[in-house]
Amino acid sequence: MTTIAVIGCGRISDIAHFPALMQIDGVRIKYACDLILEKAQAAKEKYPKIENVITDYKEALADEEVEAVFVLTPNYAHYEVTMDALKAGKHVLCEKPITVNYALSVEMAEEAKKQGKVLDIGVCNRYQRSVEMMREWAEEGKFGDIYHVYASFRSCRSIPGLGGPFTTKAQSGGGVLIDWGVHFLDIILYVLGGAKLKTVSCDAYTALAKDMKAYKHRGMWAEDTADIENGTNDVDDFISGHIRTDKASVSFNGAWAQNIDKNEMFIDFMGDKGGARFTYWDKFEFFDGETLEAFTPDYDIPDMWLLQDTAFLEAVKTGAKNRNNIEYVLETMKLLDTLYASADAKEEVKA
Ligand SMILES: NC(=O)c1ccc[n+]([C@@H]2O[C@H](COP(=O)([O-])OP(=O)(O)OC[C@H]3O[C@@H](n4cnc5c(N)ncnc54)[C@H](O)[C@@H]3O)[C@@H](O)[C@H]2O)c1
Repeated sequence: MTTIAVIGCGRISDIAHFPALMQIDGVRIKYACDLILEKAQAAKEKYPKIENVITDYKEALADEEVEAVFVLTPNYAHYEVTMDALKAGKHVLCEKPITVNYALSVEMAEEAKKQGKVLDIGVCNRYQRSVEMMREWAEEGKFGDIYHVYASFRSCRSIPGLGGPFTTKAQSGGGVLIDWGVHFLDIILYVLGGAKLKTVSCDAYTALAKDMKAYKHRGMWAEDTADIENGTNDVDDFISGHIRTDKASVSFNGAWAQNIDKNEMFIDFMGDKGGARFTYWDKFEFFDGETLEAFTPDYDIPDMWLLQDTAFLEAVKTGAKNRNNIEYVLETMKLLDTLYASADAKEEVKA
């Protein structure tokens, strides 16, 4: 039996981690912690495995029975809570992005190494069957030479928690790039099998919610964190970039909000033998350049969070590094950091 604490009882805990943990045998949720007690209590009412609710995560860290913690707080708190947990001798699964910048992410990786503890990052898409298969097919040569990858992560009106931690750069590290782009760029680097970065060029725009009160939306997720009256919105809601690596080049456009009434979420892998369009959180269609046939491999869409959290708890037992170990995710964080540096400098920069 592995005893854990879950720190941060917001949306991702409810969508992903508590449902997964309810399905995993051999895990005991001794604490659910949130700064807002009502959120932890609401989780306890919904998920019967939760034993206690607390508002100060240090209480869980002081409990010797707790072996591992899930850090599901806003981005700015990832660093502090994770570092405290590692120093208290706990294994950690920390949500994506690692934290608000690359330098602090490296410190987190170094602390995990120093303490000899597992530190996994919630880049959950690495557990999608589509992503696994595309990586396997790339390795097997089915794509031939993948020379370019294009990613689109664009939605019509989806700025999260306008005025809250998602739109305040000091708390989030950035906007649509660090929030959604992290998944897309991580998938790309993963499928390419660990491409090394060379140069990047990026432009970032705060275009549609310059005047937060005038921003119109149909639905806005993370409304509970919105603070239109007093909050800040100083992050990118549109982003465009070009990346050179030692393997493929990559280009992308991302939008939390755009004046085009479409959600366009996909990644195109262009190989000289075959290509694939991966529709985000769904299946991929492969086009074979020899037979000129397009087909979609048939498989069940797995619960990536269940697989990810199971793998983390397994790593806690064995100490073996899995695909989400921070060491294998640092390159993605470096890429995000370098893209923002390019956008700030308004010129191409070396990674
Ligand atoms: N893997 C994914 O696909 C995915 C999806 C959504 C969010 N996320 C990530 O998960 C994290 C949380 O996002 P969310 O949408 O759940 O946000 P949220 O605002 O809904 O929830 C965060 C919760 O953390 C609590 N909190 C903040 N600081 C705390 C502290 N020091 N101790 C205890 N509780 C604290 C807040 O009160 C809040 O309830 C973010 O880093 C986000 O990027 C990942």
